Amino acid sequence: MDQFLITGRSRIAGEVTISGAKNAALPLLAAMILAETPTTLNNVPSLQDVRTLIKLIEGLGITIEKNGNVVTCDTSTIENYFAPYELVKTMRASILVLGPLLARFGEAEVSLPGGCAIGSRPVDQHLKAFEAMGADIKVENGYVIAKAPEGGRLIGCDFSFDMVTVGGTENVLIAATLAKGTTVLENCAREPEVVDLANMLVAMGAKIEGIGTSTLTIEGVESLKGCEYSVVADRIETGSYLAGALMTEGDVTAKNTDPSLLIPVLQKFEEMGAVVTTGDDWIRVQMTGRPKPVDIRTQPHPGFPTDMQAQLMAVCCLAEGTSTISENIFENRYMHVPELKRMGADIQVDGHTAIVRGVEAFNAAPVMATDPRASMSLVMAAAAAEGETLIDRIYHIDRGYENVEEKLRGLGVKIKRVNPVTDNAESEEANNG
Ligand code: UD1
Repeated sequence: MDQFLITGRSRIAGEVTISGAKNAALPLLAAMILAETPTTLNNVPSLQDVRTLIKLIEGLGITIEKNGNVVTCDTSTIENYFAPYELVKTMRASILVLGPLLARFGEAEVSLPGGCAIGSRPVDQHLKAFEAMGADIKVENGYVIAKAPEGGRLIGCDFSFDMVTVGGTENVLIAATLAKGTTVLENCAREPEVVDLANMLVAMGAKIEGIGTSTLTIEGVESLKGCEYSVVADRIETGSYLAGALMTEGDVTAKNTDPSLLIPVLQKFEEMGAVVTTGDDWIRVQMTGRPKPVDIRTQPHPGFPTDMQAQLMAVCCLAEGTSTISENIFENRYMHVPELKRMGADIQVDGHTAIVRGVEAFNAAPVMATDPRASMSLVMAAAAAEGETLIDRIYHIDRGYENVEEKLRGLGVKIKRVNPVTDNAESEEANNG
């Protein structure tokens, strides 16, 4: 299994070009299943999760190809509506093929994703909404078997999600575009990736109102056509590299991104003492001295994103004082805490809350990556630490960050990949982030 060997103590500085968002690319790829004519998707990041979903869509008999960062898809060759456990277990977002298959072909059989390292993460809200749209849903032998009502089309309905769910909103939004009649969805996720999906669906001919709000009104249409669309910039990748500047008195400019997607994160950077400047498609973060302590509460968008919690915790570890972090989205998203502690951090976890007492420096130590975002907190901590840090299980980073070594090297991080992969052990874990 690959590992990263990182030699600190580096100043993280320079320019980094941001890729398309993984969390937008996945629902956009799933939504391609809806189109009757070919679709082209640009700015698709080259990541393991993207490859997994493409493989899954290919398994349906659909012709889908990725050349560089462009994916083309022609659904006319579809043969079946089946998503096997072997693929779904490696990536929770695979459940996103359920909505489009059910809506367009009236049936689908998709494996349940199962648990993952950051909590039990059920899909009950997805299934409840499909049932409200008239679908017959059975769960048998670990598979969701879904059938649309008589006539093969879902029926528009009013549905309110019990909690804000990004994947749930996406799956049901996709399905509602082809339903008979109007669907009103309440308590929807408003994440930029949901907005990106809604915009692509509109380009395909869908009728959606309330994009970017918590109420989406979708007037079902008979069919959707292909389109050409470009994936939104990855706000989490952007924030992750910028956070490195705060830990190392650095100076990072992220290009090809969108500052309006990172307002809660940039606000924290400023509270911590960084100078943040922005243009239309770039953000620069300059830092001198130690960070100031802050309080962070993860919330659905437009609140502080859970996917930036680990990276900001690593910054708090070096702050001059005590920070409080409260994780409100996932029940078990502190797996990076013991690893950061191995590197000298002073963190106490009590339920959802972590108390982080700042220390002057990290020390190098062998550590283990646990999810894509947690892994990035360790990479940045290693870059800031004195000595050599070996990070194990870095396949988690490869799932979420395109060309990660190249980009880190461009920012001055001394990083080496060691023990090249000889087996496919990384595909054995279902995870997300
Ligand atoms: C997406 C992101 C992930 C991010 C998360 C929250 C993708 C591919 N992944 O994950 O990076 O951390 O949003 O911003 O976009 N829940 C239920 N029942 C459901 C659905 C969700 O109880 O049917 C719960 C989950 O267990 C979790 C919370 O709701 O505690 C939020 O989950 P959700 O927003 O659905 O996350 P994902 O879409 O899986």
